Amino acid sequence: MDNAWWEDCVVYQIYPRSFQDSNNDGIGDIPGIIQRLDYLKTLQVDAIWLSPIFLSPMADFGYDVSSYRDIDPLFGTHADVELLLKEAHQRNIKVLFDMVLNHTSKMHPWFQESRLSKDNEKADYYLWSDSIPNNWYAAFGGKAWTYDSLRKQYYMHSFLSEQPDLNWRNPEVVEAVLGELRFWLDAGVDGFRLDVINCIVKDESLRNNPRILGSRPRPYDMQRHIFDRNRVETHQKLKMLRKLMDEYGQRVLVGEIMVELPGEPELAASYLGRFNDELHLSFDFTLASTPFKATRWKTVAKRWYEAVGRHRVPTWVLNNHDLSRLMSRVGENEAKAKLAALFLITQRGALFLYYGEELGLPNSKVSRLALQDPLGKRYWPFHPGRDPERGPMVWNTGEGNGFSPIEPWLPFVKAANRYSVENQEMEEHSMLCYYRTLLHIRKEDETLRRGLTSFVETSNTNVLSYCRELQGQQRLILLNFSKRRQAVTLPSFAQKGIQCERIFSTHEPLPEFTGNGMESMLLEPYQGLIYRLIETLEPEQ
Ligand code: NOJ
Repeated sequence: MDNAWWEDCVVYQIYPRSFQDSNNDGIGDIPGIIQRLDYLKTLQVDAIWLSPIFLSPMADFGYDVSSYRDIDPLFGTHADVELLLKEAHQRNIKVLFDMVLNHTSKMHPWFQESRLSKDNEKADYYLWSDSIPNNWYAAFGGKAWTYDSLRKQYYMHSFLSEQPDLNWRNPEVVEAVLGELRFWLDAGVDGFRLDVINCIVKDESLRNNPRILGSRPRPYDMQRHIFDRNRVETHQKLKMLRKLMDEYGQRVLVGEIMVELPGEPELAASYLGRFNDELHLSFDFTLASTPFKATRWKTVAKRWYEAVGRHRVPTWVLNNHDLSRLMSRVGENEAKAKLAALFLITQRGALFLYYGEELGLPNSKVSRLALQDPLGKRYWPFHPGRDPERGPMVWNTGEGNGFSPIEPWLPFVKAANRYSVENQEMEEHSMLCYYRTLLHIRKEDETLRRGLTSFVETSNTNVLSYCRELQGQQRLILLNFSKRRQAVTLPSFAQKGIQCERIFSTHEPLPEFTGNGMESMLLEPYQGLIYRLIETLEPEQ
C-alpha cells in the first residue's frame, strides 16, 4: 500500500490574525494567506493549518466558535475559503482547519437554545447542574461552573465562561459534530487539528478531581485532572471521528492532547488507537518544556518514539500559538535555535512549524496595557499570556513590515526589520535560508523522512547522535548541544570500519576524522551534522 501523505509531512501553522493583512485593518485574513502561498511553497511545506477562522465573538480569539460553518468576517468569506483551497491545492499544499469541538462559544445557537429551558431539544447539549457539583476549575481561571440566570442552572466550562463544554455523552451532540466536520470535508478541506480533544468526555458522575499538594498560581494546576479529561469513552468517540475521515480517504486528524507539564508522551500516543484507528497524529509537547541538553532531548525523543511505536507516526513541534517561541526559550541564541531546527527536521514522522519560526522570531514584548489574551489578563505577571508568541509576521523592511499599513493588533518583535523575509533572503546564512535548505534536504531524502531512528551511544553526553535507517540506507546525525568544542568517538562505527559522506553541516570548520574510520572527531560549539553512511569492507591484512 502507498504511504499516506501525512506520515512524513511538514505542516506550517498559520495564526491567521498575525500572518498577512489584506484589507488594512491591522488583522491578518484569508486573502492575505492566499497572497503568501508562493512564499510557503519556497519552504516546501505539504500542508497549512489555520488556527480557527470561524464565526466567533473572539473571547479566546476564535477558540470560541459561534458557528462551525460560517467564516468570521474579520477573516473573510466562504468565497475566500474556496479560493484558498483552490490556490493551495494547485500548489500541492493541503489545508487543515482547526476544529474546537470540546466547547463552543456561549453565542453558538446550540447553547442559546440549550439555556432556554431544561426540556428543549438542545437541553442536553451541554453539561448542566442545579448546584456546583464538584471541585473542578477552569484552565483560564475560576471555577469550571458558571450560573446561567435564564436556565437557573450552572453550566460547565473547561476554559472561559464564554466557552461552555459540549456534552459528548449525548449521541445527538456527536451526530451534530460529525455533521459539521462532513460539511468541511465535502468542501475539500484535507483534515483537522482537533483542539484539546482528550477533554471532550467528562466523568459520568462528575466526581471531584484529587488535589495536589504545594502551591501554584493557577488553582487549575492544583489538582490531577482525572475526571475532567482522558475518560476512557473518549477513545470510542475518536473511533467515530476516524471512521468519518476514512470515508473520504487521504484526510488527516491531528489531535491536541492537554496534559500535565512536562508532558505525557504515552498518553498522547494512546489517542492514536491501539490499532491505528483513532487520531492519525497527536501532539506531544514535552520537548517544549525540556531544558536544552543533549541527554534530556534524547530521553524525551526516545520516550516519544517508544510510545508511538514503529507502525504509528510521531509528530514533532517546537513552537505554536500557546508556547513561548523557541528563540526566546533559548535566550535568543541563534546557534541553539538552528541546532533545535536540525533536530526537528531530521526526525521521522510529521513536523509542525509555526509561522515566523523559519525567521527565528523571538517573542514580541507586550506591555500590560496592550494585553489581548484572556489568560494573560487574568494571570499577569505570573503568566504573561500568549500574546508574545502571536506577534505579526515580518515580511519586509517597508511600512508596517509588509504585514499591514496600520498598527497591527499586537506589536512586532523588537528590531523587526532584521528578521524580515526580505532581509533574510539576501543573507546566505540567515535562519530562513537555513530552514529552506534543510527542508529541501528532507524532501529529497526518503531515509530522513521515513527511516527508523536509533540512538547511538557516543563517548560524550553533550552530543546527541542518532541513526536513521530505511531499506539499507543510513544517515547519521550528530548534534553538539554545548557551547564548547566537543570530541566524540563512535566506537560501534569505528569497529565496523564504516565510512561516511557529509550531507550537511550547520557551520564550518568541518570536523575531521582521526584514526580508523569514524573513530574520533571534534565538533564546534552547537555544530550539527548529517552524514550518509557508506559501509566499507574490512581492510585487508
Ligand atoms: C487549546 C488552544 O490551543 C488554545 O489556544 C485555546 O485557548 C484552548 N485550547 C481553548 O480552546
